[in-house]
Amino acid sequence: MKERAYNFGAGPAMLPTEVLLRAQEELLDWNGTGVSVMEIGHRTSNFQDMLTKLEVKLRGLMNIPDNYKILFLQGGAQGLFNLIPMNLLGKNKDVDYLVSGVWSERAAKYAKKYANVNIVTTATKDSIPDFSTWNLNKNAAYAYYCPNETINGMRFPSIPDTGNVPLIADMTSSILSEEIDVSKFGLIFASAQKNLGIAGVTLVIVREDLLTVDAANGVPEVYIPEVFIPEVFNFKTQIEQKSCLNTPPTFAIYMMDLMVDWSIKQGGVKQLELDTRVKSQKLYQYISQSQGFYTNPVAVHYRSLINIPFSLADNDNQLLELFLSEAAKHDLKYLKGHILVGGARASLYNAMPLSGVDALIEFMRDFAAKHRC
Ligand SMILES: Cc1ncc(COP(=O)(O)O)c(C=O)c1O
Repeated sequence: MKERAYNFGAGPAMLPTEVLLRAQEELLDWNGTGVSVMEIGHRTSNFQDMLTKLEVKLRGLMNIPDNYKILFLQGGAQGLFNLIPMNLLGKNKDVDYLVSGVWSERAAKYAKKYANVNIVTTATKDSIPDFSTWNLNKNAAYAYYCPNETINGMRFPSIPDTGNVPLIADMTSSILSEEIDVSKFGLIFASAQKNLGIAGVTLVIVREDLLTVDAANGVPEVYIPEVFIPEVFNFKTQIEQKSCLNTPPTFAIYMMDLMVDWSIKQGGVKQLELDTRVKSQKLYQYISQSQGFYTNPVAVHYRSLINIPFSLADNDNQLLELFLSEAAKHDLKYLKGHILVGGARASLYNAMPLSGVDALIEFMRDFAAKHRC
């Protein structure tokens, strides 16, 4: 078999070869059923058993307390940008959004259809304003943020303190790469196509009281959202139906199960975070020692551990195009930055081994030596 390329794309992202081989091995006959997991009913005991065990494993891996419900939904992370206000707003329509990059900005924009959105803070090009300047509303129904902005390569160095206001986090690009205390959040969500497998399923972890009381006012009344929510996107209904009101994305859930097993085998989130830190520090260190040939635009304190954008000393992008095509020839793939910010970007999700980062640095060093003016 040809050696696989190192895939630095931001998502759908690299998967561990071990996981792909397991999926291949199990493809024709899953779990002794004689059929593939793609061909099996979601209400069969085999599938239901996997779903139940996946939930138990996720609880262990992320230390998810019992008063949090786990949902496997469709619609991707951007679907959640709408579903969160739809499901969490009762009478109180005031919400806080911390805008630190493209994804949280879009989430705030979508929320405006349902809520009075207060922008607590807006990141500058290279950093997030100090906490002392934030305009938090202590009566907000929830406060929303994105701990790791995949496109901008910006990260909140600590969990924002929003007092009693439930904190909602889009962890699409950081889940399982950084240890988190789930109990500090009201709701966490992540679409799967980075550290949780493949596109098609979105993981939602929600504190159950947010769906049963008017949380903002603390009034223990039966919670009735004030907008119509399609049944398949109604958190309460899907919790009651164990994410199986309609046919869930069965293959994507199966891939999540394999990724969760693999993550546990790596030593859990603590170890995965340590590995992530080693990988990103190595790359940042090389970039800072490249004498300006490569530059990362983000202030040191706010740099992502996972998505590392960088530009080349290049005014007309010709060098960048050459860099990307030469890198691809070296099996260093999908390094192009997001269209909104340009440049290059290396995403270091859990499946990226340290050897991939070493290979990238070696390539970058050789390329700089050849093309430095
Ligand atoms: C932090 C973050 N939020 C949201 C999204 C959008 O995800 P989806 O395409 O599943 O809607 C992405 C995709 O890369 C992301 O990184």
